[in-house]
This record gives sequence, C-alpha cells and structure tokens, in this order.
Amino acid sequence: MKNRSKIQVLLFGILPLLATFSASAEPINNDDAIKLARSAHCLRCHGVTKKKEGPPYNVIAAFYKSNKDAEEVLIEHVTMGAKVKLSDGHKENHKAISDKSPEQVRNLVRWILAQ
Ligand code: HEC
Repeated sequence: MKNRSKIQVLLFGILPLLATFSASAEPINNDDAIKLARSAHCLRCHGVTKKKEGPPYNVIAAFYKSNKDAEEVLIEHVTMGAKVKLSDGHKENHKAISDKSPEQVRNLVRWILAQ
C-alpha cells in the first residue's frame, strides 16, 4: 500500500510535466521564421507590433490565443492566398507561400502565434 501511493505520487507529478513537453515538442525556430517572413515579403505588410497594411503579428496572436485550431487556420491562410481587403479599400489575394515545406510554413505560423 505504501509503495503504491508513492508510485501514484510519482505518476501524478510526472504526467503534467510530460504533457507540457509534448505540447511544445518542436521548438519554434525564430531565425528560420523571420528569414521566411522576410524572403516572402510578409514583413512589408506586417510588423511584429507595428500596424502596417496588415495587422501586426502580436494582434493576430492575441486574436487567436484561445483558438485551438489557430495553427491550421493560419497555415491555410498563408498557403491558399485568401482574399484580403487593403486599407485603400481594394481587395487582393493575400500573399501565399507555395514553394516552402509544410514544416517551414508551420514554423512561421507558430512564430506568428507566439508574438
Ligand atoms: C500586401 C500586403 C500583405 C502581405 C505582403 C502579407 N499580408 Fe498577411 N495580411 C494582410 C492583410 C491586409 C491582412 C488582414 C486581412 C483581413 O483581416 O481580412 C492580413 C492577414 C494576415 C494574417 C491573419 C489572417 C487571419 O485569418 O486572421 C496572417 C497570419 C498573415 N496575414 C500572415 C502573412 C504572412 C505569413 C505573409 C507572408 C507570406 C503575409 N501575411 C503577407 C496583408 C498582407
């Protein structure tokens, strides 16, 4: 009985820790994300905190904070070229990244969501 409760204590101590680690299994590569954002000209319209033609990334991150599908939604957004409305009122297809690996795109989106 005594040993069993020790094991229980151990398990309950470790499980939440494991869950935390697996949720962030792949760390975000900031350098790669910024490099891609730059080469794909995302930063022309998006600042990290500064409003440009598009919303800043910290505002996007805040908006999607409690959305568990955020990663998938934004991956779709940046790969499918959805229609967006620019500040002068005209609409154009949003810049789409089509020539990068899914891992690179996901890394970029996770970086955006971490701002
Ligand atoms: C020509 C300017 C422009 C460029 C270049 C641009 N964006 Fe955007 N982006 C916008 C605008 C404007 C919006 C807001 C769209 C809306 O709310 O309808 C937006 C929205 C977004 C959103 C939020 C989408 C949502 O569903 O809330 C993300 C994420 C995003 N852009 C990422 C990127 C990435 C990554 C790149 C580079 C591949 C990029 N943008 C390049 C103008 C741009």
